[in-house]
Amino acid sequence: MKTILITGGAGFIGSHVVRQFVKNYPNYKIINLDALTYAGNLENLKDIENEPNYVFIKADITDEERMDEIFQEYQPDGVIHLAAESHVDRSISSPLEFVKTNVLGTVNLLNAAKKLWNGNWEGKRFHHVSTDEVYGALGDTGFFTEETSYDPHSPYSASKASSDHFVRAYSDTYGMPIVVTNCSNNYGPNHFPEKLIPLCIHNILNNKPLPIYGDGKYTRDWLYVIDHAIAIDLVFHQAENGETYNIGGFNEWQNIDLVKELCRQMDEKLGREKGESEKLITFVKDRPGHDLRYAIDATKINKELGWKPTVTFEEGLSLTIDWFLSNQEWLDHVTSGDYQKYYDKQYN
Ligand code: NAD
Ligand code: DAU
Repeated sequence: MKTILITGGAGFIGSHVVRQFVKNYPNYKIINLDALTYAGNLENLKDIENEPNYVFIKADITDEERMDEIFQEYQPDGVIHLAAESHVDRSISSPLEFVKTNVLGTVNLLNAAKKLWNGNWEGKRFHHVSTDEVYGALGDTGFFTEETSYDPHSPYSASKASSDHFVRAYSDTYGMPIVVTNCSNNYGPNHFPEKLIPLCIHNILNNKPLPIYGDGKYTRDWLYVIDHAIAIDLVFHQAENGETYNIGGFNEWQNIDLVKELCRQMDEKLGREKGESEKLITFVKDRPGHDLRYAIDATKINKELGWKPTVTFEEGLSLTIDWFLSNQEWLDHVTSGDYQKYYDKQYN
């Protein structure tokens, strides 16, 4: 029996990781620790909330005392750390929130784990979930590998880069058994509609403008969220201590082409005339410090751990739209209240 503490498990990616671990490892106790910020939503986990190997704890990773208490009470063997402030645009208006959660929160967790494990590292693991944004921006060619130097540009990516450095420093300084994964843009069910794909799905449904920053030529490398969860499971269980793996689907899209493909699929599914949703595309003011292009070289995780994506982008996007169409109540819940205030401030 192992106890695994997953932070940020009520969020987008975390909820898929929690579900995967609860279902695949009935002999593990899975603790989901989440502060339930605007991005955390227990509705994401309704289907597994009564499983006997699942526990939810509402707590804030910036609360040092509480982290110590939880680690002492539950004695986790492993930590999979996803809790973070995750939206680049919010980091531009509130950078300090990102420093608090992403940097301070990560160091609190590292300290709580170090105190509990007390140098007995056998069978222990701290898996830090990070992003490709720490590597900065690419030009028209090339890929991020695990050897690419860090060069973050937004307060979000700077805070994630800092947290990655702290995690590696705890390995180098204290010998803590850590692994780090840096993944590209995820999409899929439960994606919070402040991010490009779910925001556009929501706006197409409501016939609202689809805001494209700048000229729309910015490029992102998209991965279906369940494939990210599968990769995390593999790395958590099979990687050597101290390793880093980049995760991505070799699936680059310029934002404008991606949104047009989304419009095409949505028109078909909604029975709208061809080209109808595309008329909603609106070019708006660019994001400051906008990174031109991200692209992950996922050769290492493929060669060493045999991971590759299980769905094509067309399938993944279709599954995602279908999920949003059959979960409009979920969308209504998360877009009521504070979401509207955020939206008006960001786009009007
Ligand atoms: P998200 O914003 O959907 O979820 C974050 C979760 O963390 C929420 O449930 C929130 O309540 C929780 N949280 C926030 N602050 C907290 C705090 N102080 N204490 C405890 N819980 C707190 O984020 P996501 O998109 O699911 O991303 C999860 C992780 O994966 C993040 O670390 C992010 O940097 C990383 N990542 C995301 C992507 C992506 O495309 N979304 C890609 C690569 C890496
Ligand atoms: O690369 C991994 C990262 O992907 C994660 O670490 C982040 O947590 C996650 O939020 C995501 O960051 P991005 O900034 O790439 O995602 P976002 O969905 O915000 O934007 C994707 C692209 O679309 C980006 O080039 C900005 C653009 N965009 C975004 C929004 C919200 C628009 O053109 N219009 C919009 O309204």
